[in-house]
Amino acid sequence: MSHPHTKWKPVRKAVFPVAGLGTRFLPATKVMPKEMLPLVDRPLIQHAVEEAQAAGIEEFIFVTGRQKEMLEEHFDYQPELERTLKARGKQDMIDKVRTCEIGESQLFLTRQARPLGLGHAIWCARKLVGDEPFAIMLPDDVILSDTPCLKQMIEHYNETGGNMVAVMDVPKEDTSKYGVLDVESDDGTLASIKGLVEKPHPEDAPSTLSVIGRYILQPEIFGHLSKFETGAGGEIQITDAMAKLIGTQPFHGLRYEGERYDCGSRAGFIEANIAFSLRDPEIGASIQKMIQKHALAINAEAAYSRLE
Ligand code: UTP
Repeated sequence: MSHPHTKWKPVRKAVFPVAGLGTRFLPATKVMPKEMLPLVDRPLIQHAVEEAQAAGIEEFIFVTGRQKEMLEEHFDYQPELERTLKARGKQDMIDKVRTCEIGESQLFLTRQARPLGLGHAIWCARKLVGDEPFAIMLPDDVILSDTPCLKQMIEHYNETGGNMVAVMDVPKEDTSKYGVLDVESDDGTLASIKGLVEKPHPEDAPSTLSVIGRYILQPEIFGHLSKFETGAGGEIQITDAMAKLIGTQPFHGLRYEGERYDCGSRAGFIEANIAFSLRDPEIGASIQKMIQKHALAINAEAAYSRLE
């Protein structure tokens, strides 16, 4: 396929940083990686990989750490399991198991020995990414949308080139949890960025447009990451390295279509399970009944306490 920009190469690779400790889910994540927590019937990492596959990504790069082997095994061909399912005549289950295969020679692994921050995790993938643009997918962020979020981004990238982050408006008091954009111009869908600040106090935040876990970056980012400068929280932040690309290359924030769930927090993870299960053809109707039952009980309790 021809590319409208000779300067900007197409996005073929995606990096999945999965070396974090997942402390917010302890003790569940004492041994099991956070990214293996199931969202309805597929682990978080599979949702992220499927989104990348739907966006045409050809190479999948996992930045893993200690006790994360389960993540790569999840995407392996599993002959024993398939033989057993076949003997039991469970073709539907075989089909489900096959949804989580990454093609041979498409999965690449590197390790982050010490969890020094997201920027450091991405730096660990520099040899596998090489001299071409790449996507970053944080499996913690799951986006429910008609068109997969990364596909939306790549469609816009094919017009703009340069660097792109997925953004959403957050309440002002929440800016201290995100990387926040200093906006130069904004057409309501794409915002051109003149600055980026990691986790600003609400009174210092240049806007409320905040970065979520989907990025398209040019390989020049690695030059900045290799300086190992620490930022907010004493971590090597990707935001600080991205800020240094601004002015040298186009940099846009895309207001994607869809609803994002923060599956790195317990409440966000539970809400994502509710939202995704309501859309599940097999269990959606019974989940809806369960929610109605609980809502009625909550309302009745509230009405009763008003009478007291
Ligand atoms: P988080 O900030 O959610 O950290 O990382 P965490 O360790 O995974 O979880 P908590 O806060 O302890 O509960 C965001 C993403 O960056 C990756 C994580 O795996 C996650 O996908 N990450 C973070 C790394 O790969 N390496 C790091 O050093 C830090």
